[in-house]
Amino acid sequence: MAATVSFLILLLTLSRGFAAEPGMTIKTTTKGIDYANQIAGNALRSKLQTITLPDQSGSEGSKSWSITNIRINGITGPDTHISLNPGAGGVTLGISNFGASLHADWRARYRIIFKVSSSGSVDLSVSGASITLVAALGEKNGRPSIVASSCTCNIPDIGIKFHGGLAAVILNIFRGVIRNKVRGLLQDEVCKAVVEQVNTRADAKLAEMKVTVEIAKKFVLDYGLIRAPAITSNYIELANRGLVYWKNNRQESTFTSAPCPPVTEFSNMLYLCLNEFPANTFAYVAHVNNFLQYNITVDKIPVSSQLLDPTGQLQTEFPSSKLEIRISSAAAPSVKFENQKVTVAAAANVDVVVHSQSSVVTPLQLRVSVSVTVQPSIVDGKLAGIITAYTFNISVRKSDLANINEAELNALIRQAIDEVVLPQINEIGRQGIELPSSGVLRFRNTRLNVQLGVLKVATDAEFMG
Ligand SMILES: *[C@@H]1O[C@H](CO)[C@@H](O)[C@H](O)[C@H]1NC(C)=O
Repeated sequence: MAATVSFLILLLTLSRGFAAEPGMTIKTTTKGIDYANQIAGNALRSKLQTITLPDQSGSEGSKSWSITNIRINGITGPDTHISLNPGAGGVTLGISNFGASLHADWRARYRIIFKVSSSGSVDLSVSGASITLVAALGEKNGRPSIVASSCTCNIPDIGIKFHGGLAAVILNIFRGVIRNKVRGLLQDEVCKAVVEQVNTRADAKLAEMKVTVEIAKKFVLDYGLIRAPAITSNYIELANRGLVYWKNNRQESTFTSAPCPPVTEFSNMLYLCLNEFPANTFAYVAHVNNFLQYNITVDKIPVSSQLLDPTGQLQTEFPSSKLEIRISSAAAPSVKFENQKVTVAAAANVDVVVHSQSSVVTPLQLRVSVSVTVQPSIVDGKLAGIITAYTFNISVRKSDLANINEAELNALIRQAIDEVVLPQINEIGRQGIELPSSGVLRFRNTRLNVQLGVLKVATDAEFMG
């Protein structure tokens, strides 16, 4: 029994694991990381300026000493280098050529015959220090997280220069002790500062990552990470859900998504890959929430009902009545990516409605199947799209009209699509959809490529200051 239960639990966990394929992946290559390193290096330099060291004291027999008010006067370097560390599931931050000059007060007591106490100031200098920090990347609330897993700091030597009174004699006795003590202390404090920078500042920054964006005020696109970032020797990969849901009514989707093909060249900083899943969830929630509905009255579409209805039946039966065309999606549109093209197959119900003084009747009901070609592009770091062509087919579902002029019916539907439906959909496409990098990174050298099942973006980027 217990074995069966464990087996079931295992199966459930496995199937959940498989269901959670990402709708989008973002790979940051070593080139992207080198760029991030420049930014991180500057932040680290200013953080190291502000290290504070606690007071130090020690004693040996009748001799005792203390160093207080330790202040950093200035630092030199350091050089920083971030590299990928697949083994640690994260990155290695290497800091080298770190130098610092410090100033402090000292006090010492000793007894030869009398008890003597003396005090003064001391200058300390550090050069050629190096730090190696390893940090692991994880996932927290759908965002990346980072935590330092180890830190070593090596300070080769410390220069000490005491100032004041009888110090020379006395302090020479302690010089070695103080040097080792301060060196050890500094090594610990530098690591503490760097670890803190990573565990709080860097982690907090990552926790701010925007993982939901609004589309057309009615939809929300969820970019939350579905697992911890994957690290290879060539890139860090974020796997984002990429699910679109109706604002205030989040539903899981039953669509499946094809995995992105592996990236084989790494000359750009970022590689984004979107499969059809986000677009199809978008189309699905748009349909089920009646977003794809357009009611067009004759005021907007100047058609002559006589042209549509050659026998003049409408005019006779409903004199001086108004015509309305109601278009609504009949099923969720289906989005396909292939060979530099995005196509959408949609089916709509079109009702031709007549409003007379006394009644509202629907003498004609049609089904219109539309095939739409969309040209995707990256504009201002957003994914945009514009409809470049479409074709449609009309079938009559119900007609009370004795005779329909098919050419006029086609013209009527084309006019409705061109003048009402397309401008509204293109406006959403023109505004574009924010990517997780929007507002943070400015894209340069961007290439967009549509292949079977996936849309890929290769780009360089720079931080928006
Ligand atoms: C279109 O008209 C129908 C019937 O009156 C109505 O149910 C629907 O909400 C309307 N849709 C829009 C977008 O106005």
